[in-house]
Amino acid sequence: MSFSEKVVLITGGANGFGQATGARLAGEGAHVVLADIEEEAGRETADAIGAEFVHCDVRDPEASLAAVDFAVREFGGLDVAFLNAGISTGCGLVETFDLELYRRAMQVNLDGVVFGINAAVPAMRRRGGGSIVATASLAGLTAVPFDPIYAANKHGVVGLVRSAGPVYALESIRVNAICPGFADTRIIDGFKAGLESEGIPIIEVDHVVDGIVDLMASPDSGVCHFVQAGHEPQEFRFRNIPGPRDN
Ligand SMILES: NC(=O)c1ccc[n+]([C@@H]2O[C@H](COP(=O)([O-])OP(=O)(O)OC[C@H]3O[C@@H](n4cnc5c(N)ncnc54)[C@H](O)[C@@H]3O)[C@@H](O)[C@H]2O)c1
Repeated sequence: MSFSEKVVLITGGANGFGQATGARLAGEGAHVVLADIEEEAGRETADAIGAEFVHCDVRDPEASLAAVDFAVREFGGLDVAFLNAGISTGCGLVETFDLELYRRAMQVNLDGVVFGINAAVPAMRRRGGGSIVATASLAGLTAVPFDPIYAANKHGVVGLVRSAGPVYALESIRVNAICPGFADTRIIDGFKAGLESEGIPIIEVDHVVDGIVDLMASPDSGVCHFVQAGHEPQEFRFRNIPGPRDN
């Protein structure tokens, strides 16, 4: 798939994976719209890579609709939505439980993807198809004992995408999730030194972007690709559970 002239909306586009993916796709000739709550960083990035910026808090469904409208107004439609905004939780289950932090993490990491799909699909229908990639995490595929709330919302994204993928594929709209392990963005600042001292490899952002861009172009829908150090990004194969009448 060529990204030349494609219209791409990226939430969480001011930093990290969103910024790097925006730069890659703008370099390939795409019309990129970066959507983020960080206005200054977002505008600076957009100027640097030749993209547009729109302020968008993904916790608000109206803001997701407005970001899609902005892309459509600026560039005539929407082909790709990278629903990538996300945060670490800072919230445990008992001693460190905090209702506000809990709600915020679920809103950004899960509601944000729901609202993003809700806003993007009608615009993609008008285009005759499109590609949606949500950023989940390896935390959406495996247990994360040190951050169960993060695991819960990222597993939510995985379930959402696997369920929505086959439905919207009928209209040529693909819905997939990228599931990176620990990668070198500011989100791991608080525990990067610990990972390094444990000898856990940290993934280069460029390697994650390779996986994101491949998945955007994939004909599949409803799949989750993991990105891990030392492996090419690839589909995670879920086991089927036995049917109710299987012995
Ligand atoms: N870096 C990793 O190790 C890693 C691994 C797996 C998954 N992820 C996921 O990757 C995605 C991108 O994170 P990153 O690592 O690039 O971190 P990052 O902090 O560099 O980027 C996240 C972006 O999301 C934006 N954002 C936060 N709340 C928002 C909101 N309410 N509305 C709109 N934008 C908002 C931030 O301003 C920021 O620009 C997240 O969903 C994160 O959970 C990261």
